[in-house]
Amino acid sequence: MLQTITWTGQAARLLDQTKLPTETIYVDITSETQMWDAIKRLVVRGAPAIGVAAAFGVYLGVRDWPDDDQIGFGKRLEEVCRYLATSRPTAVNLFWAIERIQRVASTIRSAEIEPAQVVRTTKQRILDEALAMLEEDNRICRSIGEHGVKLLAPLASSQGPINLLTHCNAGGLATVRYGTALAPVYVGAEQGLKFHVFADETRPLLQGSRITAFELQQNGIPVTVICDNMAATVMSEGKVAAVIVGTDRVAANGDVANKIGTLGVAILARHYNIPFYVAAPTSSIDLSLPTGKQIPIEQRDAREVTEGMGRTTAPPAAQVYNPAFDVTPANLVTAIITEHGVAVAPYEASLKDMCQRKD
Ligand code: MRU
Repeated sequence: MLQTITWTGQAARLLDQTKLPTETIYVDITSETQMWDAIKRLVVRGAPAIGVAAAFGVYLGVRDWPDDDQIGFGKRLEEVCRYLATSRPTAVNLFWAIERIQRVASTIRSAEIEPAQVVRTTKQRILDEALAMLEEDNRICRSIGEHGVKLLAPLASSQGPINLLTHCNAGGLATVRYGTALAPVYVGAEQGLKFHVFADETRPLLQGSRITAFELQQNGIPVTVICDNMAATVMSEGKVAAVIVGTDRVAANGDVANKIGTLGVAILARHYNIPFYVAAPTSSIDLSLPTGKQIPIEQRDAREVTEGMGRTTAPPAAQVYNPAFDVTPANLVTAIITEHGVAVAPYEASLKDMCQRKD
């Protein structure tokens, strides 16, 4: 499995996902401005990976601050956190990670540490926390995989593989490893289950065909790329046993924001009576938002739509609407698979329960 993010000791090394599937290039990020740009341009993408990347971004933004300027350091930390939080609005993991770093920093400031050591110790703790998130993400995704496979295994038959459909990329390349939506596939494959995945191409930036198909192929899972407008056909032909997707933010009532086009897939799945599963670490659950209506939806550059395929595909000055995400209402979601277990409706109670669990 390719590594999305690693820490070299000096830099956060990111797999440049804008170059997939034709090139596997790594970039070393050494400042918070480079990290902001990498998140914005989708060099690193996918909610959990964005969170971990932002945590390293905070460290990179404060690591060169003079150790003897505690007041200036506090202001700098605030500034860097606020700045990184403007990179992308929808994935709550970004804000979750930044807040977690801020909490760590504030515990040190109020702890009994010699004043001369506060800045140095805080920097080290911020780095340690970012490294801990990197490590945790592996365990969390593995656990999502183990819970998810229990839902998918009963779909196996002697007729052939379990046919899934996914939208965008919620695989290992959207996290540190394993992924969320694809974790049950990888865990199930280890257990001997056979899968075949339809990967929606996922216009405009093609995360499905460029990234999901790429990583499934690399991991030996049979995959078929379809254009987004073919999902209805494969479902109507009885070729899809379940849909499984990731999410950028789940509201308290179970409404789910994910890559634009997910809502259409969920509506189709309901029409064809196909289960629609969402895989999400609890860090993607935002209990502060009562419904999906409050989830901020990122609007992106029109050129992603008009010039996204290496050529101009719309007339000059055509009006373009390019929301990067949509919200699937909870009533279309069969279950939400977290690292602590599977949440089902009524989601207000089950999601709260998942967020409180420690196991
Ligand atoms: O714009 P992207 O590529 O960051 O969008 C990614 C998605 O929509 C994923 O499905 C979501 O972040 C979950 S990743 C585990």
